[in-house]
Amino acid sequence: MHDPPAGRRVPPPLLDSLGRELADLRVSVTDRCNFRCRYCMPRERFGSEHRFLDRSDLLSFEEITRLASIFVSLGVGKIRLTGGEPLLRRGLPKLVSMLASLGTDLALTTNGSLLSRHADALAAAGLRRITVSLDALDEETFQQMSDSAVSVADVLAGITAAERAGLSPLKLNVVVRRGLNEHAIGAMVDRFAGSGHVVRFIEYMDVGTTNGWRLDHVLTAEEILSVVRTRTGLEPIAPDRPGEVASRYRRIDGGGEIGVIASVSRPFCRDCVRARLSSDGRLHTCLFSTGGTALGYALRHGVPDSQIASMIRSAWHLRDDRYSELRSDATRPSAAVPVTLAGSAERAGRPTPAPGAEKVEMSYIGG
Ligand code: GTP
Ligand code: 5AD
Ligand code: SF4
Ligand code: SF4
Repeated sequence: MHDPPAGRRVPPPLLDSLGRELADLRVSVTDRCNFRCRYCMPRERFGSEHRFLDRSDLLSFEEITRLASIFVSLGVGKIRLTGGEPLLRRGLPKLVSMLASLGTDLALTTNGSLLSRHADALAAAGLRRITVSLDALDEETFQQMSDSAVSVADVLAGITAAERAGLSPLKLNVVVRRGLNEHAIGAMVDRFAGSGHVVRFIEYMDVGTTNGWRLDHVLTAEEILSVVRTRTGLEPIAPDRPGEVASRYRRIDGGGEIGVIASVSRPFCRDCVRARLSSDGRLHTCLFSTGGTALGYALRHGVPDSQIASMIRSAWHLRDDRYSELRSDATRPSAAVPVTLAGSAERAGRPTPAPGAEKVEMSYIGG
C-alpha cells in the first residue's frame, strides 16, 4: 500500500454498509475516446449521433482537484485518472501536477495511442504509474477489437516512451473475448517476458447496456491461466494490498508477473474500496451503478466543502453495491430465481438519480 507522505493526516476509515472502506478514487476526465472497442463503445451506439458531454459540463481541473482533496480528507490514498481516453483531455499534465500536490498515489489508465507524445510531461508533472490497455499484438485483431485505424506500433511506442520517462513497471491490460483474441494471451505473455511489466488479462464484463455481452463470450480466468501455463508454470503471489482487483502470479521461468482480473468468474466485490467520479462530477459507488450523487452540481452551486464531504459520507454509508457477486449468483446454472441487480442504496434514492435506471457506460464512469 502507498504510504502517505509525512504530514498527511490519515483519517479513520469511512466504511460502507458492508464494512468496506473508501480508499481509491477513479476520476474520469472525459467521456470521449478515439477507440471504439466493441466491448466498451460499440460504434453503432457511439457513432456521430451520440451526444457526448458538453465541454461546459466537464469539471474543470480546479473543480476536480477540489473534489479530490475532499476525498483525500475522507481517507482516499490512491487516485487513478481514466476516461474515455484521458489523454484526449487537453492539458492533462497540468491536472496531474495539481493532483500530485495532494500526496496520494497517482496513476493513469490509457489506451496508449497518444502516450508517446505525453509520457515525459506526465512523469514530470508527478504521475507515478501507468496502465496501458492492449488487447492484441497483431494489427488485424487489434484493429478489430479497438475498431480504430490506430496501429499497434503506436501503442508500443507509447509503452517505450513511458519506460523512458521512468514510469516502469507498467501494467498492461488485455480484455479477452472468446472467439476474438484468445491468441493474444500467448503473444502478450511471450512479448513482455522479462520486461518488468505486468500483463493482466481481464474477463470480458457486462458493463453498460450497449456491448451485447453474453456469458459464453467470457473466457474465464481459469481458461486464461491454462493458456499461460502452456508457456510457463505459475506460482500465486499474495496481493499487494487489500482490495486489489487482479489475482497475481509469478512465472516460474523468471519472466515476471502475470495477473488475471476475474470479475465474472471470481467476483471481488467483498473488498471493493473504489469510488468513481464521472467527468461531469457524479459520484458512483459501483462500476455497474445506475445512479450517482451530483457532487459537481453541488460544487457549482456554492455548496461548501464540509457539506460536499457529508454528501460523500452519506453515499458511502448507504453503499451496498456488489453487482458482480449478484450477477454471479444469478448466472449460476442452479439459480432458481432471477436476482435484481441494482444495489439497494440506489433504490433508497441517492440525492439526484440519473434519468432512467440503466447501468452507466464504462466510458462515462471510467474503467
Ligand atoms: P491499481 O490497483 O491502481 O494498480 O489499478 P487497478 O488494477 O485497480 O486498475 P485498472 O484500471 O488497471 O483496472 C483494471 C481493470 O479491472 C479495469 O479496467 C476493469 O476492467 C477492472 N476493474 C477495475 N475496478 C473494478 C471494479 O471495481 N469492479 C469490477 N467489476 N471491475 C473492475
Ligand atoms: N470488460 C472488461 N473490461 C473492460 N474495460 C472496458 N470495457 C470492459 C469490459 N466490457 C476496461 C479495459 C480497458 C479499460 C479502460 O476498461 O480494461 O483497458
Ligand atoms: Fe476502448 Fe478504453 Fe476507449 Fe473504452 S475507453 S473504447 S476500453 S480505449
Ligand atoms: Fe466494486 Fe461494483 Fe465492481 Fe463489485 S461490481 S467490485 S462493488 S465496482
